[in-house]
Amino acid sequence: MRLDKFLTECGLGSRKDVKSLIESKKISVNDNFKISPKDNINENEDTVKVNGEILTYKKFRYYILNKKAGFITAVDDPREKTVMELLPDWVIKKDLAPVGRLDKDTEGLLLLTNDGVLNHKLLSPKSHVEKTYMVILEKDISEEDLEKLRNGVDIGGYITMPAKAIKIEDKKIHLIIKEGKFHQVKKMLEAVNNKVIYLYRISFGKLEIGDLKIGEVKEISLEDII
Ligand code: URA
Repeated sequence: MRLDKFLTECGLGSRKDVKSLIESKKISVNDNFKISPKDNINENEDTVKVNGEILTYKKFRYYILNKKAGFITAVDDPREKTVMELLPDWVIKKDLAPVGRLDKDTEGLLLLTNDGVLNHKLLSPKSHVEKTYMVILEKDISEEDLEKLRNGVDIGGYITMPAKAIKIEDKKIHLIIKEGKFHQVKKMLEAVNNKVIYLYRISFGKLEIGDLKIGEVKEISLEDII
């Protein structure tokens, strides 16, 4: 792989940025500083250092974002602000895409990765990844309605799969679903004559939002996900 490509994929900036790092002797390959951006390196065998620190190449990267309301889940959009705009500079955006979708007004856990195979696998209807949502409701919810949500409700010709619904307060529940139909949580609550006022995703499979604040991002590993 070309040295400049390797360095950009390691998150050291644009091709222009890494060229200037090389020129200012901040980069070495096998302790050699007489290098050019066009040099080919073997990312598994050569030792590349930045300011004396060894750089390790990661083909796949995984991040969790605590999505803020007002941003759409898309890589780019001509009109709306996207979740990509919430990502700080240190996040490597190349080929990065969100796994699934949260509505513009939904907040909470959103996984992003450049690992297309994993992305596809996690979204497959067969994968049944459990997602936990904290839902603030317009009206108090009855035990009867919670039971309907658990057993499955009709969301416009589709009966939802069994779910877990836990009452936290009169107008606040945790809803745990294994599917990801378009506007599913909102439609499920509409099916029991209620309305979602606020929606926040707490977990996605093994991943939990924990104390990550709204708008913050952290890098995670594949082992955290599967
Ligand atoms: N269900 C919804 O209705 N909206 C979301 O953003 C996620 C799940």
